[in-house]
Amino acid sequence: MAPWKSGASAPRQRDKSIGLQPLRGRIRTYNLCFLGFGNVNRTLVRLLEDRAQELRERYGITFRIAGIASRRLGWIADAEGLGSASLLALNSDSPPGVWRTEPAPHKNIRDWLSAAQADVLFEATSLDVQSGQPAIDHIRAALEHGTHAITANKGPIVHAYRELRDLAAARGKRFLFESTVMDGVPIFSLFDQMPAIHLQGFHGILNSTTNVILSEMEQGLTFDEALQKAQALGIAETDATHDIDGWDAAVKTAALITVLMDIPVRVEEVQREGIRDLTPQALRNARRDGWPFKLVCRAQRVGDGVKASVAPEKVLATSPMAKISGTSSYIYFETDIFPGLAITEENPGLYATAYGMLADFVRATAAH
Ligand SMILES: NC(=O)c1ccc[n+]([C@@H]2O[C@H](COP(=O)([O-])OP(=O)(O)OC[C@H]3O[C@@H](n4cnc5c(N)ncnc54)[C@H](OP(=O)(O)O)[C@@H]3O)[C@@H](O)[C@H]2O)c1
Repeated sequence: MAPWKSGASAPRQRDKSIGLQPLRGRIRTYNLCFLGFGNVNRTLVRLLEDRAQELRERYGITFRIAGIASRRLGWIADAEGLGSASLLALNSDSPPGVWRTEPAPHKNIRDWLSAAQADVLFEATSLDVQSGQPAIDHIRAALEHGTHAITANKGPIVHAYRELRDLAAARGKRFLFESTVMDGVPIFSLFDQMPAIHLQGFHGILNSTTNVILSEMEQGLTFDEALQKAQALGIAETDATHDIDGWDAAVKTAALITVLMDIPVRVEEVQREGIRDLTPQALRNARRDGWPFKLVCRAQRVGDGVKASVAPEKVLATSPMAKISGTSSYIYFETDIFPGLAITEENPGLYATAYGMLADFVRATAAH
């Protein structure tokens, strides 16, 4: 995985890269709440701290970390700010100087948002493929409270996109989810920049965990060893069967169809086959023969509907998809204006996912 470099040495981005103008002379402080405090949200806290000066100077944004919550941590809030250093070292038994209740039913999210005086919710709880819950309830509660809702969780997109989008619009808040597909790569924002274009279909490699497993098994690791490697990178779903059986890729495919093709599709409507039946021998033979296996997502508009699938496919060794290894991902869009538009993301780590949420934060607050 490419090492993450701190903002001190990172090249300065042009403001245009996220389509925003800097807010000169006006500084606003936002109270931030983090729901789910695992790999993604912890990394986001680090990234926010790293980019704090740039956010203040270029976008007029300052922030307080005012709330964190998970089942084990309970609902922790302090509208004056919790202090990020203490948060990252957080021990569930001794959060220093914070308002706290014991783990409680989800209805307490409303008390928590109020106690934190939340302006922005970062929702990064585990994916529930079948229902999208409780993330949908979290986002609904945030928008009803008057809080921007930013999520890395795909469940709410496939199970409640239209409802949450409309609720956000009615409340004058933003519901943003750039980190749900291809980490922080601005896929959804890209289509915001292409008005009146029609997406006919797409194909690609969208699940990093299975791509790492397939790459490592080709190199000689067993399935279990390869899975452990993906888990050590922090990229596997909380329940890794979601990756292995193709659910994560199917949910991403459904999310892209729902938002970009404007066709609400259920996850079950995406034909799905995972990588369980691929043996190391079969993978090595396929690579040797010049047709390596990849877990490929596909969608094609058919009349008013769509045909979608996730399945292992043999791809030509010289094709772009064959070159996608490790945590990298790839997507190829077919539109009526650009016949082929492809994006490759090479070796992202958790900071790429966290970056998508940070960029959503800047986008959400820019207009408010
Ligand atoms: N990791 C990645 O590379 C990546 C990339 C893109 C998107 N995502 C998405 O981002 C989300 C988070 O991923 P992650 O890697 O950070 O997962 P993770 O490390 O497993 O963390 C999940 C967090 O959610 C909390 N949680 C789970 N269920 C909850 C519930 N019902 N109520 C409150 N808190 C709950 C967990 O804590 P408790 O167990 O204490 O509740 C934990 O703090 C997932 O939806 C994932 O699909 C991840």
